[in-house]
Amino acid sequence: MTEGVQTSPAFTPRVFSGIQPSGGLTLGNYLGALKRFADTQNKGIESIYCMVDLHAITVWQDPAKLAHATRELCAGFIASGIDPEKSILFNQSQVPEHAQLAWIFNCVARMGWMKRMTQWKDKAGKNQENASLGLFAYPALMAADILLYHATHVPVGEDQKQHLELTRDIAIKFNNDFGVEFFPVTEPVIEGAATRVMSLRDGSKKMSKSDPSDMSRINLTDDADAIATKIRKAKTDPEALPSEVDGLEGRPEARNLVNIYAALSDQTVEQVLADVGGKQFSEFKPMLSELAVTKMTPISTEMARLMQHQDEIDAILRRGSERAREIASPILAKTYEIVGMVR
Ligand code: AMP
Ligand code: TRP
Repeated sequence: MTEGVQTSPAFTPRVFSGIQPSGGLTLGNYLGALKRFADTQNKGIESIYCMVDLHAITVWQDPAKLAHATRELCAGFIASGIDPEKSILFNQSQVPEHAQLAWIFNCVARMGWMKRMTQWKDKAGKNQENASLGLFAYPALMAADILLYHATHVPVGEDQKQHLELTRDIAIKFNNDFGVEFFPVTEPVIEGAATRVMSLRDGSKKMSKSDPSDMSRINLTDDADAIATKIRKAKTDPEALPSEVDGLEGRPEARNLVNIYAALSDQTVEQVLADVGGKQFSEFKPMLSELAVTKMTPISTEMARLMQHQDEIDAILRRGSERAREIASPILAKTYEIVGMVR
């Protein structure tokens, strides 16, 4: 965990994060989320990771594909190094307390807060009238995910920062409204070289599973050839690589490839540039390609193997959900009591 991060002393450090099973995992998910989750787990901090299927259905999901994507995501977590014995790994809908606490938070959060969320504006687009009510309430459910476990730290990519600020606002308002110090004011953990991995075709756009061009991203299911081709064809500029970080200014594609190299090799951007400064992309790309293939193909192989054993995946999710409920259920019960629900 980051040194100097402030946590209310009353709460023991606990990490929570979630990923939507909305089909396909990218290198962005791996470097911005999964790899960092595994690193956190390996530091021995209690960690809870959730496949947020209730969030996924805020936009239409084909039921058969949703079930497949949830299992594939679980396989992705395990293949990335998350150990279901050490961490709690489960899917949101098997722990009904998430939806129950989300309802309370729907009554704490204000319409004005939700309307300011950029993800809502982006996803609802011009046709807000036709977006689901769930899409609008999405951040209150996310706050419930986190606060249901009194989680103190939430590792995410840059794009989730605003949602985490809203989670803090909900915790603060709840505590104030009811005159309690019940929910922690959670710290976002957005750190490392790859909190925002960009498209390989356009350095100004986030690498995303929803980009129409498959060449824009590396999928966790890509084989060695696909990875190598995508890196070879990645957009770059004609200059050599700089030796200092300042030299990446105004060169989004170069910055992105260097960030990816740094994150995959567990180095800082400064360390990478000290090594590769002065090299042309014709030399750097094969280095990156080799590194990416070495790091990523064992993950795709392991995911494919795990997907042959769906019963085991389902058992892991069931067991994880039971363990999650043991923590969640007393916290929900206490919340109901604070709010004045007769039990
Ligand atoms: P999602 O797939 O949108 O549910 O995102 C799951 C996690 O991956 C979140 O923590 C995101 O912030 C992170 N993430 C998704 N895309 C990227 C990206 N291109 N770069 C870094 N992190 C990402
Ligand atoms: N909104 C997150 C995303 O799209 C997923 C998410 C749901 C999440 N609940 C969470 C992330 C709780 C961290 C903590 O990436």
